[in-house]
Amino acid sequence: MRPFVHLNVAMTADGKIDTVERRGAAISSAADKERVDRLRAQADAVMVGGRTLLDEDPKLTIKNESLRAARVARGLPPNPAKIGVVTNAALQPGAKFLTAGPARIVIFTSERTSKNQLEWLRSNGAQVFVHAGQRVDLEAMMATLKVEGINRLLVEGGGTLNFELLRRGLVDEVTAYLAPMIFGGANAPTLADGLGAGRDEAIPLKLEQVNALDDGGIHVRYSVLRKHSD
Ligand SMILES: NC(=O)c1ccc[n+]([C@@H]2O[C@H](COP(=O)([O-])OP(=O)(O)OC[C@H]3O[C@@H](n4cnc5c(N)ncnc54)[C@H](OP(=O)(O)O)[C@@H]3O)[C@@H](O)[C@H]2O)c1
Repeated sequence: MRPFVHLNVAMTADGKIDTVERRGAAISSAADKERVDRLRAQADAVMVGGRTLLDEDPKLTIKNESLRAARVARGLPPNPAKIGVVTNAALQPGAKFLTAGPARIVIFTSERTSKNQLEWLRSNGAQVFVHAGQRVDLEAMMATLKVEGINRLLVEGGGTLNFELLRRGLVDEVTAYLAPMIFGGANAPTLADGLGAGRDEAIPLKLEQVNALDDGGIHVRYSVLRKHSD
């Protein structure tokens, strides 16, 4: 058993989710930021990959106070849980990922993370799962999340984590905001990076919805046709 997994990105018309500089370039419009806030409000947890976590230190909280209040009225915590998937965790004191909230913090990592870091994360209230092997075992992680009460998971990048989840059939829905601009750059991150799939292994999608926005951007929603449900 695993949660329902929704992957969301903001990308340029050429499919880039950042520039070649990899400094977390702004891509979303104001309307898209509001949509992402609503997506977070519907989620039990929001997840990011290790590079996004360590390089950008995202807050991942809900910005709109009334969305937080509505969750509390439904008996939920004000913010969804924040989940980091990181091979070698090296979070710093004062990291916004840990402190912005209140929110439950969950870290999935490998044995490459130092004992000191594991102890420090736990003493700061994070729930930490350490997997044997080179990387986090994404299937095992999903099963753990389900047991931990996460039924609806929002994945917010980056491209490496996105591709691994898609490749393993662990994504149910993909949404994207296509901003009216082009970054270019062969090494700029895209919606799905990693090793890539051959044509025969391409991940099939079904177009569910397309909306053109007043800001010149496009919202698109796909369901993933090849996935593992358990
Ligand atoms: N526009 C958007 O919507 C958006 C959203 C988020 C991020 N971004 C951008 O995406 C870029 C970062 O993406 P990224 O691809 O470099 O990194 P990422 O997907 O954020 O993080 C991937 C990291 O997770 C670790 N990991 C652990 N277990 C894994 C597993 N089983 N499968 C895959 N990864 C695993 C990997 O570490 P090891 O390789 O060390 O094993 C890898 O470095 C940044 O430029 C950021 O700005 C854009």
